[in-house]
Amino acid sequence: MVGAERVQEFPMSQDQSPSTSRRQFLKATGGVAAATALSGFGFPAVHTESSGTIKVALVGCGGRGGGAAVNALSTTSGPIQLVAMADAFADRLNGCYNNLKPSMGAKMDVPEDRRFVGYDAYRKAMDCLSPGDVVILTTPPAFRWVHFKQAIDKRLNVFMEKPVTVDGPTSRRMLLLADESIKANLKVGVGLMSRHARNLQELAKRIRNGELGEIVLMRGYRMHGPAGYSESLPKPGDVSDLEYQIRRFHSFLWASGGCFSDFYIHIIDHLAWMKNAWPISAQASGGRHYQTNGDGVPFVDQNLDTYSVEYTFGDGTKFYFDGRCQNGTHGKYSSYVHGTKGVAVASRANDCGGPSAIYRGHNMDDGKVLWQSTDSSNPYQNEWDALIDAIRNDRPFNEVKRGVDASLVTSMGRMAAHTGQVITYQQMLNCEHEFAPFLESLPEDPRAPLTPGSDGRYPAPQPGMKPNREY
Ligand SMILES: NC(=O)c1ccc[n+]([C@@H]2O[C@H](COP(=O)([O-])OP(=O)(O)OC[C@H]3O[C@@H](n4cnc5c(N)ncnc54)[C@H](O)[C@@H]3O)[C@@H](O)[C@H]2O)c1
Repeated sequence: MVGAERVQEFPMSQDQSPSTSRRQFLKATGGVAAATALSGFGFPAVHTESSGTIKVALVGCGGRGGGAAVNALSTTSGPIQLVAMADAFADRLNGCYNNLKPSMGAKMDVPEDRRFVGYDAYRKAMDCLSPGDVVILTTPPAFRWVHFKQAIDKRLNVFMEKPVTVDGPTSRRMLLLADESIKANLKVGVGLMSRHARNLQELAKRIRNGELGEIVLMRGYRMHGPAGYSESLPKPGDVSDLEYQIRRFHSFLWASGGCFSDFYIHIIDHLAWMKNAWPISAQASGGRHYQTNGDGVPFVDQNLDTYSVEYTFGDGTKFYFDGRCQNGTHGKYSSYVHGTKGVAVASRANDCGGPSAIYRGHNMDDGKVLWQSTDSSNPYQNEWDALIDAIRNDRPFNEVKRGVDASLVTSMGRMAAHTGQVITYQQMLNCEHEFAPFLESLPEDPRAPLTPGSDGRYPAPQPGMKPNREY
């Protein structure tokens, strides 16, 4: 059935399952190509020769990092090898290494002295690469600009996960870094994989061709139970505040932009793409209904458990987004575009799942399907194929500015909910509240960006009380 909007089953997405098992993530990332015979190292700065081996380093060895490494090593345009891994924590690095090693064979050559642990591990892993190689940045987003800066200094091509920023000051910094990376002819992919989903590419083309008429309304939903680290209980005594906040990054706005930025950015990004514009302002509401778990232990994270956002575009049209992390409630995780001629399903399930479809009129009846996508290739693999192709053939490829825009527009909706104010794109971009201003000083200055109160709770949003700050 491709018709009416219906409750979706939610197989764990990669967002929801940071510790996805090896079998699950191989499936999710499209499996592993046969090991390729490798040539030696020592190649030109940009891999224009298809025979050059591209060396890869992984920084942030969690669920997505492992998946991205599999995607990188599954590209088929020439030899590629994972040579270094870095993580803040040894258990995460070892878990990822042990997951990858059995299936990657000769495509992975990461001996112990190229496995680095600690907050400066990223520098050591990048030191194992030569200009023109690729570093994968899949830590929580707070570290993105710090690690990207180092990658630019080392003249490395980059794959970085979304969101790429979570606040105004780091967005401005990231835009400057994007300019630098473009000037240096670096190829940079951003993990907003909707942009590489063939169903959405085809839908965008059809919308541009006028098949939906003028877009008058868009709707996006991500509503399911608590996921990833969206909820946190008080910190146990045997772990530092910094480590607790990093490990449970979806709980803390400085680390991830909270569940709002981390979970909702994909649908916000691809609906803005369908509209071919970024929204210029947002108003929003949200609340935290469940303050404790079933045993009465307080949740201490900074997330609201419901969000409802009205985004406005320059032409006055609206995009409504609903986000919810509550057990037992109606589940919906999909996106829709309404035009003067009919409605389109953009993502039928999850962040960008097909088939996308266009219907005559606004009832999504099976009999009114005008077009439905058929390509079901893996967008996570497509984005890597595009990046490596651009590197090997020296084609322009830099997704950072678009990634910053998507991150900013997402933050704009989040800030509108957390402050209870209308927030414009310009206000978000120029906002002076930097959530974690001293991250570049790690590991020498291991301060935690947030301090809990005596009840273990971290500062929560107070809509109406703090109009210029989210907490
Ligand atoms: N595109 C997608 O669909 C998708 C899916 C999942 C996750 N993601 C993104 O990928 C990123 C990581 O998410 P995840 O689910 O893999 O989380 P995760 O917790 O599984 O992995 C993050 C890893 O980074 C490590 N880390 C944290 N700080 C570090 C630092 N300063 N230096 C080195 N390592 C550090 C952690 O120890 C952990 O192993 C996030 O930005 C998330 O939004 C994207």
